[in-house]
Amino acid sequence: MALVTVDELLWKAEKEGYAVGAFNANNMEIVQAIMEAAEQENSPVIMQASQGAIKYAGLEFITAMVKLAAQSVDVPIALHLDHGTDFNQVVRCIRSGFTSVMYDGSALSLEENIAVTKKVLDIARPIDVSVEAEIGKIGGTEDDVSVSEKEAMYTDPEEAKYFVESTGVKSLAIAIGTAHGQYKGEPKLDFERLAKIKSLIKIPIVLHGSSGVPDEAIKKAISLGVRKVNIDTNIREAFVWAMRRELEANPSEIDPRKILGPARQAAVDIIRSKIRLFGSSGKA
Ligand code: G3H
Ligand code: 13P
Ligand code: ZN
Repeated sequence: MALVTVDELLWKAEKEGYAVGAFNANNMEIVQAIMEAAEQENSPVIMQASQGAIKYAGLEFITAMVKLAAQSVDVPIALHLDHGTDFNQVVRCIRSGFTSVMYDGSALSLEENIAVTKKVLDIARPIDVSVEAEIGKIGGTEDDVSVSEKEAMYTDPEEAKYFVESTGVKSLAIAIGTAHGQYKGEPKLDFERLAKIKSLIKIPIVLHGSSGVPDEAIKKAISLGVRKVNIDTNIREAFVWAMRRELEANPSEIDPRKILGPARQAAVDIIRSKIRLFGSSGKA
């Protein structure tokens, strides 16, 4: 089917109490793996491309691959820009056919973040493109910050309410203790803060940095209103570990397909397990 919007997927998830997986698509094998996993689980999925993925694969290639994947199956697929920090690039993605964009103004002041998010909404809304914004700072697992510094970056519930009321945005990424990349220890999520935020803003919440978060914590976050769960690192791990296994087992192999095929299958397996965890199996 044709690409759908993220808002459409998240509002159904909101009504029915599950979350939709947003999986980072960095190359053809991963696009195919996300598509295959979604089809096998009869689940909606979001394929998202970061600015790094666009730089690596090219905007036209990413858009064409994801459109073709969506057309090849009967489950709903959305194409989303992950962490867009440049207004002009957001516009280019929309023009290229993305059905959703994240404008990440978390490095800006609150008022500047509101102003640019509104600008993005002004161009996206009339053409039915979804917009995700971010309040608080999610950061990376490699960032050298103390616990108190980390907590200072968490989303302030009242600020989130003010942000949503000021912009009219329909989905919001929040910082409650997750980070991008491989965790060194077990991440601790601030569920009280999540519950408070959800009580103040009645829109779907997005959880970034979800790879490596224990399954029980993911389930609890979904029960408290998370409707989009972003996964990148776990796919990278599965993909590269499988490639490494193949190369070590067959050091003289020179056919890339023999190495990338098992890597693609490893990605399918991890994505299917995430889809089941998020409760979106059978929700296509
Ligand atoms: O949010 C971060 C994602 O994992 C994307 O990472 O910018 O290296 O593509 P990347
Ligand atoms: P992880 O790489 O930690 O799964 O985070 C993905 C993400 O949040 C993409 O926006
Ligand atoms: Zn993220």
